[in-house]
Amino acid sequence: MSASLALAERLVVPLIDLPSSSSMPTQDFFLCYRDGSLKLLDKQTLKKGGLEVEIDPRPGEQHSYPAPKKDLLAQAIGKKTKSVIDATTGWAQDSLAIFRMGYEVNCIERSPVMAELIQDGFNRLAQKDWMQNRQLQPPGLMVGNAISLLGNLPEAPDCIYLDPMFPPKRKKSALAKKAMTVLRDILGDDEDRADLFAAAWQATAKRLVVKSPDYAEPMGGKPSEVYQGKLLRYDVYIK
Ligand SMILES: C[S@@+](CC[C@H](N)C(=O)[O-])C[C@H]1O[C@@H](n2cnc3c(N)ncnc32)[C@H](O)[C@@H]1O
Repeated sequence: MSASLALAERLVVPLIDLPSSSSMPTQDFFLCYRDGSLKLLDKQTLKKGGLEVEIDPRPGEQHSYPAPKKDLLAQAIGKKTKSVIDATTGWAQDSLAIFRMGYEVNCIERSPVMAELIQDGFNRLAQKDWMQNRQLQPPGLMVGNAISLLGNLPEAPDCIYLDPMFPPKRKKSALAKKAMTVLRDILGDDEDRADLFAAAWQATAKRLVVKSPDYAEPMGGKPSEVYQGKLLRYDVYIK
């Protein structure tokens, strides 16, 4: 069975053969294996391009492994932390940055479409020379709602990381990256943020980190520590 057919069956979505379909498909979003990765496309990017889970270091990030724990994210996660669960994985950019700093990372994502994109990214990561030379395994991925999954963990992690989708301040933010705009278009805001916070606070052994836009109120009242960036901050709650 082709990878595309297997994917369509897993997600229970139609399989469209684009070159042979005469008219424009009616769907707004598409998944496609292209140039060695699974990509998410909209009608503008249907012919070429598309979004994938980027597995290489972000601009400005060091390429060594483990990367130095010196930016705001590292400070929020904490130098003594060993295990981290990212309960809102999305495009996995935060999970992967945390992983590259040498933390043990496990991920949760409830959107089956995002989970397919994330798993494809993690499979590509496993093939990288720097991963294989060090015999590293990519982060684990659990698919489902973190509010229930966090209640059934075999072992409490040192830190749980949350980056839920907040409603935007302005209707259309020029600054929002294409990947995040598409995520909001597909999934909407995460309206159950308060329940997720409560479940994560119960489940973490030591710390809970919430990434927040600068305009949003802290999710769990006054945080123990705050790491303020330009447009976002990390609120840290310590047990
Ligand atoms: C803003 S995005 C996260 C972006 C991510 N930090 C990154 O670096 O790409 C939020 C993601 O969390 C997921 N999410 C939100 N609430 C969740 C929950 N209760 N359980 C599992 N996933 C959840 C959404 O489906 C979405 O993909």
